[in-house]
Amino acid sequence: MYRAKTRLLITGVSGLLGNNLAYYFNGKYEILGLYNSHPVIINGIRTEKCDITSKVAIERVVQEFNPSIILHCASLTNVDQCEIDQKIAKEVNFLSTKYLVECVIHKDVKLIYISTDAVYDGEKGDFSENDKINPLNYYGISKYEGELETEKKEQSLIFRTNIFGWNIQDKQSLGEWVLNELKEDRSITCFKDAYFSSIYTLEFARIIDVAIQKDLSGVYNCGSADSCSKYNFTRKIAELFELDNSLITPISIDEFNFKAKRGKKLTLNVEKLQNALGYKLPTIDQSLTVFYKDYKRGLLEELRNVGDETKEPRTIGN
Ligand SMILES: NC(=O)c1ccc[n+]([C@@H]2O[C@H](COP(=O)([O-])OP(=O)(O)OC[C@H]3O[C@@H](n4cnc5c(N)ncnc54)[C@H](OP(=O)(O)O)[C@@H]3O)[C@@H](O)[C@H]2O)c1
Repeated sequence: MYRAKTRLLITGVSGLLGNNLAYYFNGKYEILGLYNSHPVIINGIRTEKCDITSKVAIERVVQEFNPSIILHCASLTNVDQCEIDQKIAKEVNFLSTKYLVECVIHKDVKLIYISTDAVYDGEKGDFSENDKINPLNYYGISKYEGELETEKKEQSLIFRTNIFGWNIQDKQSLGEWVLNELKEDRSITCFKDAYFSSIYTLEFARIIDVAIQKDLSGVYNCGSADSCSKYNFTRKIAELFELDNSLITPISIDEFNFKAKRGKKLTLNVEKLQNALGYKLPTIDQSLTVFYKDYKRGLLEELRNVGDETKEPRTIGN
């Protein structure tokens, strides 16, 4: 007997995580992916433009598509831009979440919100979910406000994370930037005193998959099982890709003139998630190995050329 697939709505399908999640869940669910300014075409997936700062637009999508699961990845992620354009950051990171929650509050929908390690202040490190929320910048504030809205929806799930991966857009995550600079033999500086527990997007996708199956709810940190400085992270990448380590110079984050303050030890304690999932999360080395293997098997080209039958590549990067 024909059984319709469960409908999954992904916001931010043109972004790093949303796009990788669409790739991972393609075929498993009937997916509608929403983008805003970067149209993206993905075989087997419906994508459409929707400015999520418009409640009317969100209502229309939710009513028409009637999703059972929502992966809310869309966000204004440029931390300095959030500091400068606080009104826009509030609209994208907080108000859109509020609207989504209002649209599904009485529906049988699993809402999954992607939050950030930046809700913590980065002072003590090894943050667990019960530690004090104390964002140092407006990005962190607006993401936390999004969390509070999400919690109004029964059985909702929130992940506080930090990610790296292969981008469909021309912008680069830390790993991709390091790789591109070193490949061109350009010297780079990296923070020796900024620590994180970044996790590879497709490892994160597997975790979300299991979390959905187990119907997890509540707030979870989701990062690698261990942590390292951004400087060591870049060295690990150079080693994996056999690039010249000597091009990387360690500097202090204090030497950098960011518009928005950054925490130094944004390392995540992931015990709660490990216990709920029943397995150990990957270490940064393990995550990086998969990142490397995916590159070797041509994932980046696959992500960037998943056009329709006319083989038109992503129409992204305008
Ligand atoms: N990257 C990290 O290291 C990191 C760390 C911690 C937490 N996170 C969280 O992880 C999630 C995904 O991050 P990411 O790095 O994948 O983000 P990203 O690559 O910057 O992508 C952001 C996405 O949000 C969409 N978006 C922005 N404004 C929108 C609007 N008004 N209407 C509809 N869509 C809009 C963008 O669409 P268009 O491009 O089409 O405009 C894009 O698809 C976010 O919630 C972020 O806060 C990321």
